[in-house]
Amino acid sequence: MNESDRIIIFDTTLRDGEQSPGVSLNVDEKLQIGRQLEKLGVDVLEAGFPVASPGDFEAVKRLAKELRNLQVTALARASQKDIDTAWEAIKQGENPRIHTFLATSDIHLKYKLNKTREQVLEMARSAVAHAASYTSNIEFSAEDASRSDLDFLCKVFETVIDAGATTVNFPDTVGYAIPWDFGRMIKYVVDHTPNIHKAVLSIHCHNDLGLATANVLSAINHGARQVECTVNGIGERAGNTAMEEVVMAIKTRHDCLPFETGIETRQITATSRLVSTLTGMSVQSNKAIVGANAFAHESGIHQDGVLKERTTYEIMDPRDIGLAKGRLVLGKHSGRHALKARLDEMGYDLSQEEVDRVFARFKDLADKKKEIYPEDLDALVAEEVLRIPERYKLTYLHVAGGSGIRPTATVGVEIDGKDRVVACIGAGPIDAAFKAVANLTKTRSRLLRFTVNSITGGTDAQGEVTVRLQEGSQVVTGQGADPDIITASVRAYLNALNRLEYKK
Ligand code: KIV
Ligand code: ZN
Repeated sequence: MNESDRIIIFDTTLRDGEQSPGVSLNVDEKLQIGRQLEKLGVDVLEAGFPVASPGDFEAVKRLAKELRNLQVTALARASQKDIDTAWEAIKQGENPRIHTFLATSDIHLKYKLNKTREQVLEMARSAVAHAASYTSNIEFSAEDASRSDLDFLCKVFETVIDAGATTVNFPDTVGYAIPWDFGRMIKYVVDHTPNIHKAVLSIHCHNDLGLATANVLSAINHGARQVECTVNGIGERAGNTAMEEVVMAIKTRHDCLPFETGIETRQITATSRLVSTLTGMSVQSNKAIVGANAFAHESGIHQDGVLKERTTYEIMDPRDIGLAKGRLVLGKHSGRHALKARLDEMGYDLSQEEVDRVFARFKDLADKKKEIYPEDLDALVAEEVLRIPERYKLTYLHVAGGSGIRPTATVGVEIDGKDRVVACIGAGPIDAAFKAVANLTKTRSRLLRFTVNSITGGTDAQGEVTVRLQEGSQVVTGQGADPDIITASVRAYLNALNRLEYKK
């Protein structure tokens, strides 16, 4: 492979992705995702913004220390303190990278920074020069590049490359770009920045107009060689470029996109599931590549075509993203061995004790539900293995409802080792159960969102409930799954409350 055809995958799931509303990962969860991203083969992993909080600092430090097969980077504003803190967090990593950023658009200069272009140019230069006192692996991002004056942007890039930046990043911070115009801008930078050949040109696109992947592909076509992206496209507002979309577009349309990435695509599904489970951000069913329907054929004509020859209606082989065999179902006669094999296949690396716990829940579920799908197993692993420490545990639930009955819920919760039970009435059984939980836990959080999804098809499917709670300035998301959606709802509620506790 020609070096210039290699696209560097820079994953920012743990930094920009964690900026998704309601997402908050603890250090262990970040480590789990980090290890999976290493398995997936990302080149650079942005682990966080260390100056933002001691928790962020600690997480970045642990990731930099542990992950040895990729470059860990940390974000820093263009200030000495930010850069010093970022370096302190990543310095034990394998070829760690300092990622410093500063806005370059007139709109940001005038309203946010209150600085002139000359001042911004000098701030960018001195930030990179300061970073260069620590390392030669430095990235500079020109925030809001796509709304910046291009000649000024080229001047900034030329200056920071001279000061030591080895990657210069062109973010479409507000998701404003249109693919062909974005390509034109990238070409302009390549043609008008005299020393651009000394650095890797990167892009970072947000998805406000649903064009992030298209903009990235256009930019690659015009000379960009690093893509900043997140798993499942999570991130600020409408999110970032979805890594799986870029990687599979390059793999599938190699005729138009003659590039390579280092991604082991068979790890895509496992990575997507892990990120969705730990962030509590479920993937929409029709999401490209990783949505539940991405390889489902509903129409009889399509099903017939695929049975005769897969390529009639499938442009990608599901096995290439780690699916296919995974569709095989387990049932109540499946043993521990079969379950362990399936979990391994799905990318979970569980200890014997963890497998035993999942197996107990699996048997319980298999008594209620005939066929157990990979999505069901994800939910079991999420509940049994990936849970944060639980102050509140559901021990008992009984609901009464129906026409002519006032919905009542009796709920038992173990709190700090002590079992407590209370009964409440409500508008419906879920309302009654939530009132009982709030009463028992003496919490006063506000319910921002409540959604129920069916994990698979059929009336015996597990319901997956997502609950978003706010307490003061803290917003958290909790999830629960069970064939009984009231049980799933209470589990989700308690999971969110446990997250609030964990944050405290
Ligand atoms: O969207 C953006 O501009 C960013 C930068 C910090 C790279 O996230
Ligand atoms: Zn961003």
